[in-house]
Amino acid sequence: TQNIYILGIESSCDDTAAAVMHNGRILSNIIANQKIHEEYGGVVPELASRAHQQNIVPVVHQALKKAGITKEQLNAIAFTKGPGLMGSLLVGTSFAKSLAYGLDIPLIDVNHMQGHILAHYIDEDGFEKPPFPFLAMTISGGHTQIVRCDSYFDMTVIGETIDDAVGEAFDKSGKILGLGYPAGPEIDKRAKLGNPKAFKFTKPKVDELNFSFSGLKTAILYFIQNETKNNPNFVEENLNDICASIQYTIISILIDKLKLASKETGIKHIAIGGGVSANSGIRQALKDGEKKFGWTTYVPKFEFTTDNAAMIAIVGHLKYLEQEFADQSVAASARLKI
Ligand code: KG4
Ligand code: ZN
Repeated sequence: TQNIYILGIESSCDDTAAAVMHNGRILSNIIANQKIHEEYGGVVPELASRAHQQNIVPVVHQALKKAGITKEQLNAIAFTKGPGLMGSLLVGTSFAKSLAYGLDIPLIDVNHMQGHILAHYIDEDGFEKPPFPFLAMTISGGHTQIVRCDSYFDMTVIGETIDDAVGEAFDKSGKILGLGYPAGPEIDKRAKLGNPKAFKFTKPKVDELNFSFSGLKTAILYFIQNETKNNPNFVEENLNDICASIQYTIISILIDKLKLASKETGIKHIAIGGGVSANSGIRQALKDGEKKFGWTTYVPKFEFTTDNAAMIAIVGHLKYLEQEFADQSVAASARLKI
């Protein structure tokens, strides 16, 4: 019987993360969030890479300790090769290469976007794995993609954003409204108390299965500027309704594209991932889709939806089974594609 221990390392953006996996199950999943970016209202790349450098060894140490194993028990090191911020990726990549070299064990490079999708394959009680073929929609502060998945490593991007990511649409709208960063969770909370039809924002016209969110942000900005001219307290007086209307618009953009993707491919298994999948509106819309369109939908455990190393470890595990290893000349790649 197999007895495989994989260390996953993730450092593509502003979270330094390490996880230990044993035969597809997670033993530890450690994340050091970088609070420093909050005061800037967004991720500052230079600060992110410095923080990774400080955090990476302690985070890996903690992951091993929590898993109750020593580094000598590891079978392979999996790390995020890209896509992401170059300075951030370099820290995880260099560390993973050094550790694999020191331990003389295989090194496995992982595409972060495949990680978000294959997080659904982590063995976790109470969570079902989507059967192939399925459609994966990855929605976060950095990504918005619809991917057709035919097997673990046969994936095709069939739609993606041409400008901002959906999480940015939440965060930038929140900034216009004077909310803190990231604003997604607060917009979600307020949306539950507001009327989603109170204000109407036009949805962008984008070809096929692609997305665009920058126009929405501008539309919201002009709307707020215009309304506050007549009533300086407009935002305060209508905050819940504004949040509900913004969330309603964003979710209908996502669901419209999912409907089209499902229709074009004939695939009704739909899996989501990324930080925005925490949103209560998208979760409800997916449930509605099960009744309305006959979908079966999959949402991973919350800690596997935001950036994490467990999703890197599962890809490492699957690649380990295929003996798909990287050599020591592997390099980080900021624009790595699926
Ligand atoms: O995956 P994630 O933690 O980091 C990356 O961007 O990779 O996603 C963070 C994004 C932020 O834009 C945040 O505002 C958004 O996810 N987010 C939400 C919710 N929770 C987090 N957006 C809408 N509703 C939420 N409940
Ligand atoms: Zn991500």
